[in-house]
Amino acid sequence: MQVRRKFVGSSGGASWRTFFWFVVLFVFSFVLFSTMFVFKGKFRPMVRSTINFSTARAVLGESLTPSPVVSIRESVKLPEQTLFFLKYPQSLRLFTKNDLLCVFSNDGDSSKKHPTAVDIDKHGGQIVRCPETPRGYTLSLAVSRWTMDDHFPSGPTHRWDWLVYDAVIDYDNTTVVFVKGLNLRPGRVADVSRYECVYGWDFAKRNRLIRSKVISAAQEIIRCRTPLAVLDGPKSAAHGPVKVSVRIKGGHGMLPSIAQPGRIIINPVNRKKPFENCVCTMTRNAAAVLREWVMYHAGIGVQRWFIYDNNSDDDIIAEIKDLENRGYNVSRHFWPWIKTQEAGFSNCAIRARSDCDWIAFIDVDEFFYIPSNQTLTNIIKNYTISDQIGEIRTPCHSFGPSGLRNRPKDGVTAGYTCRMVLPERHKSILRPESMNETLINVVHHFHLRDGFTFADVDKDVMVINHYKYQVWEVFKEKFYRRVATYVADWQNEENVGSRDRAPGLGTRPVEPPNWAKRFCEVRDTGLRDQVLGMFKDSKRQRLVWEKEDNEVSLLARNRIARKINK
Ligand SMILES: *[C@@H]1O[C@H](CO)[C@@H](O)[C@H](O)[C@H]1NC(C)=O
Ligand SMILES: *[C@@H]1O[C@H](CO)[C@@H](O)[C@H](O)[C@H]1NC(C)=O
Ligand SMILES: *[C@@H]1O[C@H](CO)[C@@H](O)[C@H](O)[C@H]1NC(C)=O
Ligand SMILES: *[C@@H]1O[C@H](CO)[C@@H](O)[C@H](O)[C@H]1NC(C)=O
Ligand SMILES: *[C@@H]1O[C@H](CO)[C@@H](O)[C@H](O)[C@H]1NC(C)=O
Ligand SMILES: *[C@@H]1O[C@H](CO)[C@@H](O)[C@H](O)[C@H]1NC(C)=O
Ligand SMILES: *[C@@H]1O[C@H](CO)[C@@H](O)[C@H](O)[C@H]1NC(C)=O
Repeated sequence: MQVRRKFVGSSGGASWRTFFWFVVLFVFSFVLFSTMFVFKGKFRPMVRSTINFSTARAVLGESLTPSPVVSIRESVKLPEQTLFFLKYPQSLRLFTKNDLLCVFSNDGDSSKKHPTAVDIDKHGGQIVRCPETPRGYTLSLAVSRWTMDDHFPSGPTHRWDWLVYDAVIDYDNTTVVFVKGLNLRPGRVADVSRYECVYGWDFAKRNRLIRSKVISAAQEIIRCRTPLAVLDGPKSAAHGPVKVSVRIKGGHGMLPSIAQPGRIIINPVNRKKPFENCVCTMTRNAAAVLREWVMYHAGIGVQRWFIYDNNSDDDIIAEIKDLENRGYNVSRHFWPWIKTQEAGFSNCAIRARSDCDWIAFIDVDEFFYIPSNQTLTNIIKNYTISDQIGEIRTPCHSFGPSGLRNRPKDGVTAGYTCRMVLPERHKSILRPESMNETLINVVHHFHLRDGFTFADVDKDVMVINHYKYQVWEVFKEKFYRRVATYVADWQNEENVGSRDRAPGLGTRPVEPPNWAKRFCEVRDTGLRDQVLGMFKDSKRQRLVWEKEDNEVSLLARNRIARKINK
């Protein structure tokens, strides 16, 4: 009955004959789709249930709407958001964020919001990010054009803290499996005999799983041998994508998995690499600072940037596109997982290995400063005369607000000029071949293979300017958002002594008195002077990364528009 009402309603004076043919078409496609799915038989019942009168109706009503075979593969509930992984048949138009609605319901009550963002996953599907679900509500996903009460049948929902969330096939054909929930001790190698990798097209069919040996296990990364049936892609294509999980022997069973192992390395390893220096970073909402960071580092010899994006909701995608158009090779990799910075770096190291001689792991508020005006490549050469050097460690200077009250318009390198005297920790630049197969890394340092060692760079040769304590407006956001892995929550009384916290700040999110003057022990205009010498556009009398006023106001308008939409 619903079909008829909708049809007549939407087309006004359509004749009964047209209606008749539509009904025939409808029944025909319904039968066709159902039999297709029954015969393929490999799909889980959840997929079959997408052939649903209401979704089919949407297709008939508007022939341009996506086909009913788009379905939720599965979802993961994180503390601040839920991720839906949508599965698409080939060559269907993908949804945009405005096509979709996150529907929160509680008994009769319901509210709707557009997703925060929609990303493409590495298998041609999509990842939809829905905002945090209010307590007591359930969340479902709908297409905004559909009528009330229509939503995607929900797939299995996973907890984020007990999950195999990613897997990549490494250059040596082993699978590197990223796991949440093993809670292995940081920095230590675990006993491989306790684990087993399990591959399968359907984990419910216990007799059809392929088991495989674990080669290394450390932190939350398991490396295992990839079964031949999985490496030989084409033969298995008929079964749909294969997934991998990890079984803990003796009790705990198998972790749920959303991970489909795939290759993220495009190029063979044994050739001349296209880039000398690359950077991996993990960040959230870096749109405002990315341009300066990329352009500056390009000036000292970085050629390739891998941005692991931890749930940004700013203009980072547009900003990266703009940099690409200007010739910078920057790529964004969606990384929504919680407290997984080390795993993200391991993932990035695998990705960058075949293209980069050296990979630096720094944050977007960190800038290599080379007082002698040499290039990064020269510095690295000078420190790696011995082949045994697999890592170079650069000390960091922490800069304070330097008396400023507002974000410096010409960028952080020209703006902040006062810092603490003593260097704090250091960051690494890695030769990827020297990485130990465990991929262990702790606070930005990788464990190396036996026979490799590291070199410490003298702080007068190269140092990192870490713009750690910026103006209050910026600092507040950074710490509130807990991007730094080791800071659980800066408002939390625990961990008050951690080095990542601002000394003396306490735990309240209000601007401490005298903030602008803190963390200022010595004036250091070294990088500022260099930047003004190297990056000033003589015609515009501005630094190359400074935006035109109209660009700035456009961005500000976008930002305001987004706030209103929220
Ligand atoms: C069709 O979808 C609706 C809403 O998504 C759901 O309540 C209903 O159970 C589905 N019907 C079938 C036959 O799966
Ligand atoms: C990895 O697997 C592919 C496909 O099966 C094969 O062609 C290649 O030689 C293997 N590489 C190594 C290092 O084993
Ligand atoms: C960027 O680098 C990758 C290799 O890491 C390469 O495949 C790609 O073509 C490059 N993009 C541009 C725009 O040069
Ligand atoms: C990513 O951001 C979330 C908050 O959105 C945070 O809880 C999480 O720890 C961050 N992950 C990493 C690896 O920094
Ligand atoms: C580096 O460059 C700056 C500005 O271009 C210049 O003032 C300075 O003297 C140079 N330093 C060295 C050691 O060459
Ligand atoms: C080269 O490295 C050595 C230490 O290995 C250091 O003492 C020297 O200053 C460096 N030279 C330059 C030009 O950076
Ligand atoms: C990797 O590290 C482990 C533990 O530190 C060590 O036993 C192993 O030999 C290393 N691997 C290589 C290839 O050096």
